[in-house]
Amino acid sequence: MRALVIGSGGREHALLLGLDRDPSVTELHAAPGNAGTATVATNHAVDANSGDAVVALAREIGADLVVIGPEVPLVHGVADALREAGIAVFGPSAAAAQIEGSKAFAKDVMASAGVATARAESVTAAADVDAALDRFGPTWVVKDDGLAAGKGVVVTPDRDAARDHAVAVIEGGNPVLLESFLDGPEVSLFCLVDGETVVPLLPAQDHKRVGDGDEGPNTGGMGAYTPLPWLPDGMVDRIVTDVVEPVAAEMVARGVGFSGLLYAGLAIGPDGPSVVEFNCRFGDPETQAVLDLLETPLGEVLGAVANGTLAELEPLRWFDGSAVVVVLAAHSYPGTPRTGDVITGADSEGVLHAGTKNNDAGDVVSSGGRVVSVVGRGADLAQARAQAYRRLDAITLDGAHFRSDIGKAAEDGRIRL
Ligand code: GLY
Repeated sequence: MRALVIGSGGREHALLLGLDRDPSVTELHAAPGNAGTATVATNHAVDANSGDAVVALAREIGADLVVIGPEVPLVHGVADALREAGIAVFGPSAAAAQIEGSKAFAKDVMASAGVATARAESVTAAADVDAALDRFGPTWVVKDDGLAAGKGVVVTPDRDAARDHAVAVIEGGNPVLLESFLDGPEVSLFCLVDGETVVPLLPAQDHKRVGDGDEGPNTGGMGAYTPLPWLPDGMVDRIVTDVVEPVAAEMVARGVGFSGLLYAGLAIGPDGPSVVEFNCRFGDPETQAVLDLLETPLGEVLGAVANGTLAELEPLRWFDGSAVVVVLAAHSYPGTPRTGDVITGADSEGVLHAGTKNNDAGDVVSSGGRVVSVVGRGADLAQARAQAYRRLDAITLDGAHFRSDIGKAAEDGRIRL
């Protein structure tokens, strides 16, 4: 099987490494990729958001399977263009990707499906922000209602900070979404979805704030671990039954059936799971940890969704133990990250590239906010954390920062429902 992965982050590097472990995968390509993906696949400098360009590339390399990593090409209809060209693709149509691209669509689907989620209000005029804030908080949840890769969210007990973010989003040209705050530990549950067929992967937890102890602004994600030792037995099945299956069925009923990876971001409160958000693709960085524990060949799994045979797939097999991923971020991330710094030690096992490229001198240099992530695996969370941080120690990048407490609260038994 010749596979093409669209995207350039750590998630895509993890997808490529997973596909590389599948003996049925004979050739790997990435577009546009990064310095790390170039070591496992052939990188192609095409516009990942252009259906025409991706179809042309897929034809040129004779791709048997195209896997679309990020949300932007999905929302732009790249999966539709591939399907129209008769090419097998892992990723939903633009219409189905609205589950992430349009918060209003997602809320409407959830309301029809009877799925618990936060109360929400969209505000489009700065003059209306104050009155709307009075109807929420504290704590205030203020979201950029465009595709903002997690960074457009401010969760704060400080009304002025909530107001400043809301006004900045509106002045930037997007509506702002105010939501009621869902208390309780968060879970990322990735589900393979093919119409009404839903197969969950292992549950994971992201760490969205930039600093230890969940301090500082939100980021795209600074680290994650899987599985979740504190999650009660049966909770994954309950999320599938009460949340993901009803949403998948509602989308089919609306004529926008989902095919790909439906990512349910949930808060587990006293009454059970509530949806914080849905995403139409694998999450980053949770994917790096989740795929590290997947034993079933990845090409077989993604191909079953792309070819409409998910219902016939054997139950997924997983390696025992835990996996932890820690992100190394560039100076000033999540603000405007500094780029162009030389990275050393990033060619080792367990290192996944995101914002990296090769400069003219052949060095690997930073080219984005989240630069690399490292994955550790172990018999338990403590061992997985230890391996991840040992691997991180071997990497140098001037001005970089990372969280030192990924998975620590779970390891210490401090997460309670
Ligand atoms: N882990 C956050 C995201 O992928 O959006």
